[in-house]
Amino acid sequence: MKIQSICCLGAGYVGGPTMAMIAAKCPDIQVTVADLNEARIAAWNSDTLPVYEPGLDAIVASAVGKNLHFTTDIRSAIAAADLIFVSVGTPTKSYGIGAGRAADLRYIESAARLIAEVSEGHKIIVEKSTIPVKTATAIKSILAANSPHGATFQVLSNPEFLAEGTAVEDLECPDRILIGGETTPEGHAAVEALASVYAKWIPRDRILTTNLWSSELSKLVANAFLAQRISSINSISALCEATGADVDEVARAIGMDSRIGPKFLKASVGFGGSCFQKDILNLVYLCESFNLPHVSEYWRQVVHLNDWQKSRFVEKIVRTLYNTVNGKRIAILGFAFKKDTNDTRESPAIQVCRDLLHERAHLAIYDPRVSAENIREDLMIAGVPRELIESNVEVCSDAYAATENAHAIATLTEWDEFRALDLARIFELMLKPAFVFDGRGILSLDSLKAHGFDAFAIGKGF
Ligand code: NAD
Ligand code: UGA
Repeated sequence: MKIQSICCLGAGYVGGPTMAMIAAKCPDIQVTVADLNEARIAAWNSDTLPVYEPGLDAIVASAVGKNLHFTTDIRSAIAAADLIFVSVGTPTKSYGIGAGRAADLRYIESAARLIAEVSEGHKIIVEKSTIPVKTATAIKSILAANSPHGATFQVLSNPEFLAEGTAVEDLECPDRILIGGETTPEGHAAVEALASVYAKWIPRDRILTTNLWSSELSKLVANAFLAQRISSINSISALCEATGADVDEVARAIGMDSRIGPKFLKASVGFGGSCFQKDILNLVYLCESFNLPHVSEYWRQVVHLNDWQKSRFVEKIVRTLYNTVNGKRIAILGFAFKKDTNDTRESPAIQVCRDLLHERAHLAIYDPRVSAENIREDLMIAGVPRELIESNVEVCSDAYAATENAHAIATLTEWDEFRALDLARIFELMLKPAFVFDGRGILSLDSLKAHGFDAFAIGKGF
């Protein structure tokens, strides 16, 4: 089966960039990204894309209007497609059975029902969203029971491994593409059809094929292992602070062991992003469901440690500022969950700012890519009362405005521009003693000290 027309349900951080890359690499395939959210689709069709990713504008511009289309006409997009990616959100369930752990699959189910209703002929349905193992069974059963036009389907799993901030690089040159399918001749044919789309720009030996359940599970396990490394090094950061060891030196020393490797060993205020916590909790719930309490408890600790890391950072600030931050101006540098993205989902900055606001600090927040509206909304959703946000939060247009008359600075995102700040100028602007709490290990402690700051960094102490 040769794929000529692709549709993707969900024009978010995954659906938009992934489909833009497929369209750019496969000019002979029509690619339509469909979403219920009108504002999001309008933004994809404008000059200001809804997702900030280095290099993405050029990729979109190269294909949009030619073989890449963004639309809210979901039914027509499904009807015209040979292959449909489902890339809708799978957030943590906040109600009922499994609340706080299980994945909420309502968007997946409604997408499957719509596909069944509209489809005719034969279509390949691809799970791009991150989902619990065995979701393909649920999708197949919904499709089989609700197809008025007698359509037939093959369901594949093709999880996405891109990281935000490097999405374009990751899509252009992925470590691997994973495709899971049924172990039947029809399943193999569907896997091959999807593999040949990726093979237009990705070497065949990086396209891995497995059964459905291995593919679904591998995505959760990959995120769990990555997050576990961060919690592991963050646990050691506390020990470094207590002993005088330097966490970056320890990370370098262990990372040079080729069995451990150097990546993902940067101690921080905690990991954020829409997926690590959600996917580990999803794995925890899956283990509970299969009556594996030891396994679920093991992985739950990765999230516990991450929560503790964020709260101990706030405690460090409060204790250092003479046990009160009430009325004190604290400059928050960075609000996104990592550099080079405008995404703030589960950003550690949200919890840190919320807890400082509960201590009645005045926050002067600056992030180069996150809007004031987004920051205020995140704090409100995190439970900070509107009046407290209005009275105690100022969103600034640069780092110098934020640090003026501040008692302390907390760096919460590793934006490159923070590494190049004029420390002498900032020291002059601040109240004394001028404290810096580097939650990302991006500023030189020696340089800060030389400029007169009292500086603390995760895993290095004062
Ligand atoms: P997102 O919230 O940015 O986008 C999801 C979009 O789906 C929304 O715009 C929503 O309006 C739309 N949607 C919901 N129901 C729909 C329907 N029936 N038809 C059409 N559109 C519908 O989410 P995201 O960050 O793109 O993540 C999507 C999935 O990919 C999740 O399962 C996530 O775990 C996974 N994932 C995300 C990343 C990442 O970096 N963000 C990376 C790998 C995997
Ligand atoms: C992560 C994975 O890296 C992707 O492979 C995966 O596809 C994606 O989740 C997903 O499923 O959503 P992402 O969350 O976009 O990607 O970004 P990461 O680079 O993994 O960073 C996640 C968080 O960990 C950030 O807050 C980052 O600052 C933090 N981090 C990362 C550290 O604190 N230390 C590190 O060494 C690395």
